[in-house]
Amino acid sequence: MAQIFDRSSNALARMSLVLTGLIVIALGVTLDQLQRSPWVTRQGQRPDQPVPFSHKHHVQGLGLQCQYCHVTVEKSSYAGIPPTKTCMNCHAQIWTNAQLLEPVRTSWATGQSLTWTKVHDLPDYVYFSHEIHVNKGLGCSTCHGRVDQMPLMYAQNTLQMEWCLDCHRNPAKNLRPTTEVYNMAWEKPAEDRPVWCSVGDEKSGVPTAQTVNCVTREPAEGVQVASLAPTAAPLSSYRKFTSQDELGHFLLDHYKIRTPKDLASCEVCHR
Ligand code: HEC
Ligand code: HEC
Ligand code: HEC
Ligand code: HEC
Ligand code: HEC
Repeated sequence: MAQIFDRSSNALARMSLVLTGLIVIALGVTLDQLQRSPWVTRQGQRPDQPVPFSHKHHVQGLGLQCQYCHVTVEKSSYAGIPPTKTCMNCHAQIWTNAQLLEPVRTSWATGQSLTWTKVHDLPDYVYFSHEIHVNKGLGCSTCHGRVDQMPLMYAQNTLQMEWCLDCHRNPAKNLRPTTEVYNMAWEKPAEDRPVWCSVGDEKSGVPTAQTVNCVTREPAEGVQVASLAPTAAPLSSYRKFTSQDELGHFLLDHYKIRTPKDLASCEVCHR
């Protein structure tokens, strides 16, 4: 039988197969990138808000604590967004004529809450709680970045599953003393930036954070080093840490944090 195709078409067929393959791969990569892109995750975006509220001004400028406005962050899954009343504590007296604050005054006068657009918003099928993270030594800045330097709020991290798991598989690299949770400028310990910790009475029933006392200045004899300490610890019981690795593993132990295997199991976040 006569040959229908000549040799060159054979090569052509092979080439188009390779090409199709390449296109499929490229498409896959693009979709994957898209799924992870800030456009989908909204990472880094500053949504329109009723009032251009500046964390930089209110936190760094005025020195307000996070808990002043996010009152439930330590004791509930939800950190909380402050009611208009909180703003009026000051803005009934300060900047009373500013155009920017008109929506706040209207809200106060009418009793209608301001509607802030959520910057961080996990899907409903994911369980998250601030309470446990904050009480086990994870700082606001670890997840939210330098909020004190943000004129307008944006999401520093993707909040995607991979991001959560990256920490759940190795929490030690992010743990800090619970007393430093609100410290926006916290940096991991180093040779020239040591941390000293002592462990109090662990039998007292309080399981974790409260029994560990950490300070960032060398504890001196006879000085009550931290008001949080249940009993002033003897100097000899302080251990010095000069690396995140040592401190992280020490805290992992004393804050009684579950194993990476437990923490990465599906039921933790999908209940
Ligand atoms: C004076 C009140 C006030 C203080 C103090 C304050 N916040 Fe806020 N925060 C707000 C308001 C109002 C919003 C909602 C508007 C916005 O997103 O900017 C908000 C939003 C946020 C959000 C984003 C919420 C979302 O929509 O996902 C985070 C994260 C946050 N604050 C963290 C912090 C941290 C961390 C601190 C302390 C360093 C802090 N805030 C201090 C009032 C405050
Ligand atoms: C502890 C007092 C205090 C509280 C509480 C407070 N503010 Fe302010 N706010 C100020 C002061 C002071 C300024 C002027 C800051 C400046 O310009 O240095 C200001 C400025 C502003 C401005 C002008 C833009 C800027 O950031 O300079 C806006 C908008 C604003 N506040 C919104 C709010 C909202 C919304 C709330 C409630 C979530 C709030 N503030 C709570 C004290 C406060
Ligand atoms: C382990 C990471 C992590 C830490 C630590 C953390 N947050 Fe969040 N935060 C999140 C996530 C995730 C969301 C989104 C929750 C959702 O959509 O259900 C969020 C949402 C918020 C919100 C919006 C309201 C809410 O609760 O959904 C505020 C305000 C906030 N965080 C403030 C803080 C403050 C203040 C601290 C420090 C005391 C802090 N966060 C520590 C991960 C964290
Ligand atoms: C920077 C580290 C870190 C990040 C990021 C983080 N977690 Fe966690 N998470 C922890 C640690 C540490 C614990 C405490 C574990 C323990 O005590 O055994 C925890 C505990 C939890 C728990 C257990 C709550 C309970 O009561 O049993 C849930 C649920 C959880 N995380 C969900 C999430 C979700 C969802 C995300 C991402 C949106 C997230 N976490 C991101 C470190 C992190
Ligand atoms: C530490 C918390 C955490 C754990 C553990 C976890 N997930 Fe998730 N998962 C998330 C978050 C957060 C999202 C939402 C991601 C987003 O919004 O893009 C998610 C999304 C998903 C989705 C939706 C599709 C997707 O990828 O966006 C599936 C399916 C899923 N998880 C399955 C699992 C399975 C199966 C396990 C156990 C092997 C697991 N997850 C363990 C936090 C977690």
